[in-house]
Amino acid sequence: MKVLFATPEARPLIKTGGLADVSGALPAALRGIGVDCRLLLPGYHSVLSGAREQREVLRLANLPGYGEVRLLEARLTSDEDVPVYIVDYPYHYQRDGGPYQDASGRDYPDNAWRFGLLSRIAALLASPLSPLDWRPRILHCNDWQTGLAPAYLKFMGGGAASVMTIHNLAYQGVFAPDLVAPLGLPREGFRIEGFEYHGKLSFLKAGLYYADWLTAVSPTYAEEIQREPLGMGLQGLLAHRRESLTGILNGIDMAEWNPSSDLHLSCDYSARAPAGKKRCKQVLQGDLNLEVNEEAPLFGLISRFTPQKGLDWVLQVGDRLIAWGAQLILLGKGDAELEHAARLLAARHPGRAAAIIGYDEGLSHRVEAGADIFLMPSRFEPCGLNQMYSQRYGTVPIVGATGGLKDTVEDGVTGFVMSEPSAPGLWLAIERALAAYADKPAWRHMMQAGMQQDFSWERSARQYAALYEKLAAG
Ligand code: ADP
Ligand code: GLC
Repeated sequence: MKVLFATPEARPLIKTGGLADVSGALPAALRGIGVDCRLLLPGYHSVLSGAREQREVLRLANLPGYGEVRLLEARLTSDEDVPVYIVDYPYHYQRDGGPYQDASGRDYPDNAWRFGLLSRIAALLASPLSPLDWRPRILHCNDWQTGLAPAYLKFMGGGAASVMTIHNLAYQGVFAPDLVAPLGLPREGFRIEGFEYHGKLSFLKAGLYYADWLTAVSPTYAEEIQREPLGMGLQGLLAHRRESLTGILNGIDMAEWNPSSDLHLSCDYSARAPAGKKRCKQVLQGDLNLEVNEEAPLFGLISRFTPQKGLDWVLQVGDRLIAWGAQLILLGKGDAELEHAARLLAARHPGRAAAIIGYDEGLSHRVEAGADIFLMPSRFEPCGLNQMYSQRYGTVPIVGATGGLKDTVEDGVTGFVMSEPSAPGLWLAIERALAAYADKPAWRHMMQAGMQQDFSWERSARQYAALYEKLAAG
């Protein structure tokens, strides 16, 4: 079974969020069970400087709208054998900012062209017109950045069966309608039964409409998006397609996130030998200039700072939490207002609260290991990974009752699920967690229950493999 996995980000080469974790781990897990899964990524700086053993496999002399485009083949990392095709087009991809935004956080004005190109190459490689010898049976697309691929493929006359995975409906890739023709899309697709969305061109809707099968990254999210409000305008189409929409829960990379062998930590521990976690807490408190205090419950949060994540609720209850005697670490970046409010909270409580504004992978591991309680009060969460990392690290998560959080946290057993999506709802869950924390044997029991969960990718990989087989069989 050959699968082309088209994605705008993949760990360890390029990451803004969970999609990169998934794209970095799922193809490897699929290969582990015999699926020949290969990635397709844009040639950003970090991809070209990080991918191993690059060689040119294709040169398109004059792709309409773009000119010369090169395709490289490489390997994702040195230790894993995951082939990756890279769209080498410096004009669009080699930029100083992030993959979607410039250094000051503004979307690149030519994102439609940038991800139109990624989608177009994905479709070409999945079609009978592909100049490559390697021909996938399945084209697996991820989020709006690859949403046009199933449409291009359909209008090229078909080829591989296509799967569109929804990681987050909040990002839809909606652009001006006058881009339809320049991007090489037929006018006939610009209608409700197609890629038109309220008079504009929607990349995501294209994928949701033209892909042969849809998946969402958790069973609960697959249900939630068929209604308002989480359908985010696309609930009608998704409900209409419910017979070809399944929820497949993400896994986590159990090797990368393993407290007994985590190279980012100065101490190691496991469910059987949990003592090292105390040392991780001390070191973390020291590193972040918090009072080194074993008894104070240490709360951690690691997140993109966007309204989705409910950080505003954490900021509303933050003073009360500190007054109670707890400590709080906030790690993340995003909305300027949230960053500012997080900094202010930390400034009000020296030695008790820390705000680290930025992206820091090593620190994210140290917070997962050193904290007692992890905060993830998301308003919506398609899957969420940190609540799973937390359980694996014996850090009890407090989560919103939504999406993948609901599917991976058992209230009162492996974590605490908020009864209401609000700051008071969060506070109630925090009170329950603090009461449990005070009861040492009960707390140890919860930590253990979390650490024993199996969130490995294998189960999900098998579900994707079964789906590929079904689609390939027609
Ligand atoms: P989302 O994809 O919506 O951002 P997920 O929970 O699926 O949410 O995945 C987020 C990933 O990004 C996790 O691996 C998390 O640890 C990581 N992450 C988010 N913000 C930061 C940060 N500031 N520093 C380091 N890692 C971060
Ligand atoms: C998205 C979602 C997150 C999910 C991730 C990977 O970014 O916001 O919930 O875990 O994709 O699927």
